[in-house]
Amino acid sequence: MCGIVGYIGHREAYPVILKGLQRLEYRGYDSAGIALYDGNEIILSKTKGKVADLESKVSNLPSFSGNLGIGHTRWATHGVPNDENSHPHFSNSGDLVIIHNGIIENYSALKKELIKRGYTFSSDTDTEVLINLIEDIQKNSNLKLGKAVQVALNQVVGAYAIAVFDVKKPNEIVVARLGSPLAIGVGENEFFIASDASPFIEYTNNAVYLEDEEMAVVRLKKPIKIRKIKDDSLVSPYIQELKINLEQIEKGGYDHFMLKEIFEQPHAIKDTYRGRLLIDEGIIKMAGIEDNMGKFLNANRIIIVACGTSWHAGLVAEYIIEDLVRVPVEVEYASEFRYRNPVINDKDIVIAISQSGETADTLAAIKLAKEKGAFVFGVCNVVGSTISRETHAGAYTHAGPEIGVASTKAFTTQITVLTLIALRLAKAKGTMSSTDFRRHLVELETIPEKVEEVLKSDALSKEIASIYKDAKNFLYLGRGFNFPVALEGALKLKEISYIHAEGYPAAEMKHGPIALIDENMPIAVIATKYGHYEKVVSNIQEIKSRKGKIIAVVTKGDEQVRDLADHVIEVPETLELLSPLLTTIPLQLLSYHIAVMLGRNVDQPRNLAKSVTVE
Ligand code: F6R
Repeated sequence: MCGIVGYIGHREAYPVILKGLQRLEYRGYDSAGIALYDGNEIILSKTKGKVADLESKVSNLPSFSGNLGIGHTRWATHGVPNDENSHPHFSNSGDLVIIHNGIIENYSALKKELIKRGYTFSSDTDTEVLINLIEDIQKNSNLKLGKAVQVALNQVVGAYAIAVFDVKKPNEIVVARLGSPLAIGVGENEFFIASDASPFIEYTNNAVYLEDEEMAVVRLKKPIKIRKIKDDSLVSPYIQELKINLEQIEKGGYDHFMLKEIFEQPHAIKDTYRGRLLIDEGIIKMAGIEDNMGKFLNANRIIIVACGTSWHAGLVAEYIIEDLVRVPVEVEYASEFRYRNPVINDKDIVIAISQSGETADTLAAIKLAKEKGAFVFGVCNVVGSTISRETHAGAYTHAGPEIGVASTKAFTTQITVLTLIALRLAKAKGTMSSTDFRRHLVELETIPEKVEEVLKSDALSKEIASIYKDAKNFLYLGRGFNFPVALEGALKLKEISYIHAEGYPAAEMKHGPIALIDENMPIAVIATKYGHYEKVVSNIQEIKSRKGKIIAVVTKGDEQVRDLADHVIEVPETLELLSPLLTTIPLQLLSYHIAVMLGRNVDQPRNLAKSVTVE
């Protein structure tokens, strides 16, 4: 939440920072601002609204130029979104300026102290308190900026990724992190600061990721100096070479990132199993599992922790792992797990699933599980993210950057990784015959082609969307492996179209939701031809007798449901446990088209942020 960008070097900082903020806008988009050092003083422009609003504000200025600057796109926590609360924030003297992603929890006590000492505040933010605390320390103890930042951070409680500079020393930016991500792009005689690498990937592939409780002074013509905030010890910077490229983070001809990401799924799923699913050898190879096989085989149970869409992927995994590996699985909302004193010990394995690898609740759940002695395995998409580093071992999804706020390819690639894990464990445990194992490998390999085929239903989904776009409510029903797909379908619709939607196990309908059904209620039913098929057909009959409008996702060639439903979208046949990888696609497309038709901001829906780094 909140995106931060900084630049120091030989280029004009404004365009670099502006473009960087546009790339980070998925993190928060209720206000934006940039501060530059123009060679003489700090100049600032900030506004409520999107980065585009900031851009038009700056376009009215006579000049806005400099080679050093910091910028911010905000997702409000303390203080409503308005111009005053937008970042960057000045210190009282006007010498220091800061951007901040995170929350300073003890800001109120610190603010009272600063007010007593004569400081005044023009915003309601915790961030303005922090910059004045730094100024107060700098003045009273006559410290350099880096030292003053360090002393101040030792007094604050909370989470932060910050970048600060001082008009009196305009050749350096001081950065620090605790609980919010911060990357430094290392170019030739220039440095970039950002919440992730997307703002600087077109300039450099070399990046240093700060760890929690580390700070760095980024100074022109000097190597980066990293220190531990608490004990002041020096840390040698580890410069990583990044593998992402510019194309992956641009729209590539699609109207929205979400649509691009939906259509990327065949490729993304292939990237997920590439090098892991080895058909010729008839094996699955995953280093994170092989290295810890003993732990997995001896585990009493697996607990999956995640939030949102990742939690839905966890639910699919529960069905798959229990079915194939015969080990009990529990799926927990990370936000609940972290606060409920769970019974957990060193015989438990916790699998934490997170696209961003930065979700605060999931991170806290991981810390708790580790404290209680569990072995924690991460399934993340963003390489080098906090969760990928905080877990004992893990597997990346390799979906490539997901920029649309609504998760799509993250979901299907998470399911793919979790299926690979289940198959590998089933093989090792002997809960699956060799023939069955091989049959699953062969089928999993065909999934990208089948997803490609489902994507051809795009025009049909659009047509259905045009019929139901004005509905006030939607129901989504599914059973077995496809129950979580119903939950995910409903989540996709509500988050980008703002239409109320609920997902239910189809059989639960009669225990309540059936009361909602009338001729105005569209109901998406996943009615693929597996074990529960006949029962789902009965549910469809029940809906039909109450005049509900049925949008059915069916197995190719199904005639029975076609006769009953108002609309059918076909998916190719596959193994039941792999079917969520197909059935979820038409629901993603349906939500997408409804949201577009309603004029919603599909990639940046209101109130949401891609990476939820606060509780
Ligand atoms: C929904 C969505 C969110 C995320 C959730 C967890 O489309 O994107 O529900 O799934 O915030 O995020 P990660 O997976 O990054 O931990």
